[in-house]
Amino acid sequence: MLQRKDRRKGQTILVAGGAGFVGSHLCDALLSQGHKVICLDNFLTGSLANVAPLRNHPGFTLIEHDVCDWLEMSEPVDQIYNLACAASPPAYQADPVHTMMTCVKGTGNLLTLAEQNGARLLLASTSEVYGDPEVHPQPEDYRGNVNCTGPRACYDEGKRAAEALCFDMLRTGRVDARVARIFNTYGPRMQPKDGRIISNLIVQALSGKSLTIYGTGEQTRSFCFVSDLVAGLIALMQIDPNPEVPVNLGNPGEFSINELAGLVKDEIPECKGLVYRPLPQDDPKRRRPNIDRAQSLLNWSPKVPLHDGLRQTIDWFEQTLPTHPASRAKKEISLANLPAGE
Ligand SMILES: NC(=O)c1ccc[n+]([C@@H]2O[C@H](COP(=O)([O-])OP(=O)(O)OC[C@H]3O[C@@H](n4cnc5c(N)ncnc54)[C@H](O)[C@@H]3O)[C@@H](O)[C@H]2O)c1
Repeated sequence: MLQRKDRRKGQTILVAGGAGFVGSHLCDALLSQGHKVICLDNFLTGSLANVAPLRNHPGFTLIEHDVCDWLEMSEPVDQIYNLACAASPPAYQADPVHTMMTCVKGTGNLLTLAEQNGARLLLASTSEVYGDPEVHPQPEDYRGNVNCTGPRACYDEGKRAAEALCFDMLRTGRVDARVARIFNTYGPRMQPKDGRIISNLIVQALSGKSLTIYGTGEQTRSFCFVSDLVAGLIALMQIDPNPEVPVNLGNPGEFSINELAGLVKDEIPECKGLVYRPLPQDDPKRRRPNIDRAQSLLNWSPKVPLHDGLRQTIDWFEQTLPTHPASRAKKEISLANLPAGE
């Protein structure tokens, strides 16, 4: 493995999936720290609007590319963040074979690129590797309860295989690979129709509709604001030496879906009541990270309380939902329609 310069500044960093929700915030943060950022995305679930404000930044380059295909880079890179993969269930189940290939082949391609460049690679893995957990909260050494033949397997098992590839490349001394297991994250730039619980509830409420709750609403989730997650990802990329273990990143505050819906309702009075629908197959009942490892290794803890993060997210949806009176969505859409590279 090649040794490279100080990783806190002046690096060339490839962010695969950089036009997505988390990826675009990561690009913002890395540029603001003085790095050069190459954002690579096939725009499956990401959008040009997410990175539109960065397009005139001298340190920012955008490449439209699918990580399943090999990429010849025109300049060396020091770090690679692999966030490329649709994260919401309807999006990753729409083409499950492509999701699996993105996880496995895409991660394989990026690991090879990292090896050729002597670069570090950080994989954005997921709490879904724990499946419907029998251990609560989930520490990293819990091996999970995943259905390998169900409709979520393309994502859950894809990420598990991607993790295995990272640790094989690490153990064999070929790539300085790191794995973050990300728990539910939310914030501005979530796609309004991507089927995630927080965006679903906010969009329904702002549209004056009833809030849809799947199952009894007593199932729990933990919600991490995106700026907290980005800080954790950067800390994990920078830490020396490589911790050689996966690291959970999430907010351990645990809320039932009914509680979350109540908070959204309080913030958006125009919303109607709640409607209950059947729970989708393999939907986990409880999800909460044990973040002891991130706290001790990275000195990282989430800082943004759910109430504050929800307010920021609601403000953003108010400005971008075309149907909302406060919308500036028309401007966003015209930016999003500009061809890449302009
Ligand atoms: N947001 C969360 O709550 C969460 C939770 C766990 C894990 N993660 C992981 O974090 C990463 C980012 O998640 P997100 O919430 O920003 O999702 P997202 O869907 O907004 O972003 C994913 C990005 O990857 C791109 N992409 C998908 N397949 C690709 C491919 N084959 N080649 C190139 N680009 C591709 C998409 O266009 C999109 O821009 C994902 O890998 C996801 O699995 C996110």
